[in-house]
Amino acid sequence: MYKCAIILAAGEGKRMNSDTPKVLHKVCGKEMINHVIDNIRSCNIEDVNVVIGKGAEKVRKGTKSRNISYSVQEDQLGTGHAVMCAEEFLKGKSGSVAIFVGDGPLITESTVGNLVNFHEEGEYSATILTSIMEEPAKYGRIIRNANGEVEKIVEFKDCTPAEVKVQEINSGMYCFDIQNLLNTLSKLNNNNNQGEYYLTDVIEILKKEGKKVGAIDVPVEEITAVNSKVELATAEIIMRERINKKHMENGAIIIDPKSTYIDWNVKIGRDTVIYPGNVLQGDTVIKDGCTLYPNNRIDNSVIESNVTVQNSVVLDSNIGENTTVGPFAYIRPDSNIGKNARIGDFVEIKKSTIGDGTKVSHLTYIGDAEVGTDCNFGCGTVIVNYDGKHKNKTVIGNKVFIGCNSNLVSPVVLEDDTYIGAGSTITHKVPKGSLAIARAKQVNKENWVYDKYNKR
Ligand code: UD1
Ligand code: CA
Repeated sequence: MYKCAIILAAGEGKRMNSDTPKVLHKVCGKEMINHVIDNIRSCNIEDVNVVIGKGAEKVRKGTKSRNISYSVQEDQLGTGHAVMCAEEFLKGKSGSVAIFVGDGPLITESTVGNLVNFHEEGEYSATILTSIMEEPAKYGRIIRNANGEVEKIVEFKDCTPAEVKVQEINSGMYCFDIQNLLNTLSKLNNNNNQGEYYLTDVIEILKKEGKKVGAIDVPVEEITAVNSKVELATAEIIMRERINKKHMENGAIIIDPKSTYIDWNVKIGRDTVIYPGNVLQGDTVIKDGCTLYPNNRIDNSVIESNVTVQNSVVLDSNIGENTTVGPFAYIRPDSNIGKNARIGDFVEIKKSTIGDGTKVSHLTYIGDAEVGTDCNFGCGTVIVNYDGKHKNKTVIGNKVFIGCNSNLVSPVVLEDDTYIGAGSTITHKVPKGSLAIARAKQVNKENWVYDKYNKR
């Protein structure tokens, strides 16, 4: 059967107190609305329409990569009105439409799938996701008849004292038969406490027309909507727990899941050990058997197997097998570190390639350089890549030894097997196999101190 989905996202989200539209706030590195879209898509529902209004242009931009269609709701006259604005999207279609909210990122792929299957297999005209809440606060109440069938949804503000006591609530997420929904939308009115067109009223109308209405009870956690930054943090905790659990089931070892922050799209291999304070972001991939000691931020990077990283920042870069990074290293974008390499403490690498087996053990800056294999950088080497106007390139061959506290003034080339005396400032190419020393020769002035101070 044909299936499509509508996501309501036209509301303002005043309580977020933000310049960013509510649905574009991120949970574990992904916009809330994109979590909803991706879950819908993974249930093979391709046709997705988002109702936008407040902050429409930003929402369009923030969801552009998802290849969806939009309906515009100029004035926010209620959830029923929002769906009316998507009438063009629904017209001429027959099958099912699932409706979700853009600020409910915790709905899972399996619940989306169950909702649609239950709805279609039971041949319902409407199916509601509901939840049982100890304190249902402002949620709409699910009112059932003597046979236990859903009769209607009553909004909190329109409830009688008896209805307020009902603990089964409306999640605001549903599946409808498209034709039944379209026929009913035109019958909605705004004669209620809030003067809005309620989508929830569709249920009572369908029921009165003798149509079949179903409900599925799901955990409260999944349907919790985010209305404030406090609730955003709560959603983040729930999502983080799910992500960490998935990685542990896939074979990662997370010492303290509560203090490990992994974005939704990160991949982690088997037997990789993650200590507290790691922040793994973007499309990062950590392969098998790595050890991430405490306090790393790794963004959009690929870490090959058996790498150790400690107290370091790695951005948009690759780290080869068996390499160690840190403590206190800073690997900036577009760097490629080889296998069996060592990037030690207080080393910064920017837009550079470092060959296999090369050691940069401490206090060194390497920028815009191509470095070969099995080189050794002495403590305090600086690649002088910037002349005040341009960034210049340095090329270093294989098996190059650079003495401590040297400057390599770019552009410059150090050919294979070269050796740089400590304290040198290298400004010219060093030919293969040569020793370069570029510093003043040492002069000893005997008894200079005693003579000066007349101490003899
Ligand atoms: C709605 C339900 C309520 C349910 C609750 C669950 C109605 C009338 N009530 O209430 O039964 O318990 O959700 O969270 O549907 N939106 C628009 N255009 C509008 C109004 C809302 O796009 O004109 C969007 C909002 O951006 C939001 C969603 O619809 O994503 C829900 O709107 P909201 O105002 O939060 O509905 P509630 O009053 O909470
Ligand atoms: Ca709400």
